Amino acid sequence: AKEPVRVLVTGAAGQIGYALVPMIARGVMLGADQPVILHMLDIPPAAEALNGVKMELVDAAFPLLKGVVATTDVVEACTGVNIAIMVGGFPRKEGMERKDVMSKNVSIYKSQASALEKHAAANCKVLVVANPANTNALILKEFAPSIPQKNITCLTRLDHNRALGQVSERLNVQVSDVKNVIIWGNHSSTQYPDVSHATVKTPSGEKPVPALIADDAWLKGEFITTVQQRGAAIIKARKLSSALSAASSACDHIRDWVLGTPEGTWVSMGVYSDGSYNVPAGLIYSFPVTCCNGEWTIVQGLSIDDFSRKKLDLTAEELTEEKALAYSCLS
Ligand code: NAI
Repeated sequence: AKEPVRVLVTGAAGQIGYALVPMIARGVMLGADQPVILHMLDIPPAAEALNGVKMELVDAAFPLLKGVVATTDVVEACTGVNIAIMVGGFPRKEGMERKDVMSKNVSIYKSQASALEKHAAANCKVLVVANPANTNALILKEFAPSIPQKNITCLTRLDHNRALGQVSERLNVQVSDVKNVIIWGNHSSTQYPDVSHATVKTPSGEKPVPALIADDAWLKGEFITTVQQRGAAIIKARKLSSALSAASSACDHIRDWVLGTPEGTWVSMGVYSDGSYNVPAGLIYSFPVTCCNGEWTIVQGLSIDDFSRKKLDLTAEELTEEKALAYSCLS
């Protein structure tokens, strides 16, 4: 039998946490033969609700769940964890300045970075979900210098999956037959959902999405804005932000990172830029990646036309600004 893997979920009493922890306990994230021990962190005002989630996990009698730590103590939460899913953060409230929200999150991610650095298992993999996800991940990286930078990522897989969903609906094909869309850049409305290299499996082989859709106006217009604005559309419809799709995509992100991407398939992950595609180094930026043996690699050599180039640069500029804002909150 495999040794249990310890998985931390911060913000575990929140909406995404509530959808995510049962998925992890059922093996959706790490596989149906991988036992897990869940570490759940939230803040004191949510302690009672967090305990309620723990009670429900016990009540669900998940065979793979070998233990639950539910705590408001960040050190206890981080101790020995192999995987950390950072969902907890300070949400933007009406009338709040961007800088004030940034400042709250910078201080949260700074202190949680230190706790992870000191107490997590060696080679712990980190996924930041909480917004501003890319910049929170960057702060976490800066304040956990002993965690390899390759181990710190942020979630853009939800945007990636949304793009797959839009293509599948438009072409009336199974979503599982669509692959290799790309989300470039920030997990924000400046992200660039790109189908230039995406394909669909058909009875006569793989076909490029741009050839199948052949409606450039839709691909360069409505498709992009629909994916960019999908989060807002969910809030409008549900009066709550996306949770089940965010949780499911977080499982996809970790599963592919740990277990590998299928041959010929890439996924989107927010990772530390090495300057690939002339994206400034030192940002956490979403790229197409393949994963093997627990490591991601940025897909190289994709052609970038003028339209795409502008979009890659625009979202990089926003991330550069966010980085500067975050740093100004440190001083
Ligand atoms: P929520 O408000 O329901 O839950 C957040 C939880 O975090 C709350 O229980 C809160 O008490 C907790 N929390 C706050 N500060 C904390 C701290 N310092 N340590 C530990 N826990 C803390 O929010 P929801 O809907 O679950 O969303 C969580 C985050 O995920 C938000 O920042 C949201 O913007 C982001 N998000 C990101 C997506 C992505 O694709 N990257 C998609 C959807 C949401």
